[in-house]
Amino acid sequence: MGVLQGKHIVLGISGSIAAYKAASLTRLLVKAGAEVQIVITPAGKEFITPITLSALSSRPVISEFFSGRDGTWNSHVDIGLWADAMVIAPATAATIGKMAHGVADNMLITTYLSMKAPVFVAPAMDLDMAAHPSTLDNLELLAQRGNYIIESQSGELASHLVGKGRMEEPEVIVSILEDYFTESLDFEGRRVLITAGPTHEAIDPVRFIGNHSSGRMGIALADEFARRGAEVSLVLGPSSLKPSERVELISVTTAEEMLAACQERIGTAHLAIFAAAVADYRPRYSSATKIKREGEDCLELELVQNPDIAATLGAAKEPWQYFMGFALESDAGVEEAKRKMQRKHLDAIVLNSLQDAGAGFAHPTNKVTLFDREGAIEAYELKTKEAVAHDIADFVAKRLDA
Ligand code: C5P
Repeated sequence: MGVLQGKHIVLGISGSIAAYKAASLTRLLVKAGAEVQIVITPAGKEFITPITLSALSSRPVISEFFSGRDGTWNSHVDIGLWADAMVIAPATAATIGKMAHGVADNMLITTYLSMKAPVFVAPAMDLDMAAHPSTLDNLELLAQRGNYIIESQSGELASHLVGKGRMEEPEVIVSILEDYFTESLDFEGRRVLITAGPTHEAIDPVRFIGNHSSGRMGIALADEFARRGAEVSLVLGPSSLKPSERVELISVTTAEEMLAACQERIGTAHLAIFAAAVADYRPRYSSATKIKREGEDCLELELVQNPDIAATLGAAKEPWQYFMGFALESDAGVEEAKRKMQRKHLDAIVLNSLQDAGAGFAHPTNKVTLFDREGAIEAYELKTKEAVAHDIADFVAKRLDA
């Protein structure tokens, strides 16, 4: 059984003469056992008919935001969660530009913007367009954001000009996907527990103590380990984001709930990553009714310490388990992070410094340094949190096998 067996592939097709190659790409993917959901732009339909594509993929082709037949909404969010990979082939200069700048005026781009899975982009265009600085910049931007660019090839183009711009052949695109999924199953058979997001500690029914954590770093980690074959449980505090469908999601509100959910699952976890920004203190008493402003000038809140989830579970860590924490430090970062690693019985710690622009929990990007107990140090550049998750998984993969 090949690695594409049962994989959910979203194939995005935009308006280029190379759209005819999307038919054989669909056929090859289906033959390899993948389920293929096609999303085509209005211009794409000028080059290849949805009838051909739906016959090859055995699924209705999606093009409009609403189904013309019964008015049902085509949910780009659901497609984004369903997919194991998205391939945009052919990707025209216009589609690449819209992807780079979030111009969500068709179903393909809205699907791309909602995509939780890795995205492969196979450009196809005439040589002048392929060489234009705007196209090159847009592709560079997409690559920086973690999209995989499948370079176009040189050869005779539709204009009969000869140069770079031909979409890569379907056979090669399939083998790139196969390589990707082969490499990425290095956590198969492992159980991973991740905490993420903030916690909310109630003051009264409408107010709480919390923080600005979005949960995005921990969600990116959960998605990355799940994509690489692990069975992942994500214990997530209040967050507007959610992980892909492959991840078991346990939503909690308070630190105590987060600890209880972790305690239920830690016994079988090979790897635990504590990425949550847990509130250190909670109000000793939470008022059953909304606290009113009238009366006293001062309102005193008595706070009691919350459990330290990483330290509590770290104290009972088994030798076959690998635990990793996060440290967000404003100063003396390295030493403090190392102390935390020791104190909480962690095997490794991810340091993100509050001094780095673009790093930390309010940003979609992060700049991290990883440490382990053996003294290994790896420092990385500023990257998207998804790319940072990839680096962290690579770091752990080497150590779990050791
Ligand atoms: O808040 P602090 O810097 O001590 O956090 C370091 C690590 O400990 C992080 O991995 C965080 O998720 C974890 N932690 C926890 N429970 C707490 C506080 C922190 O699991 N109450």
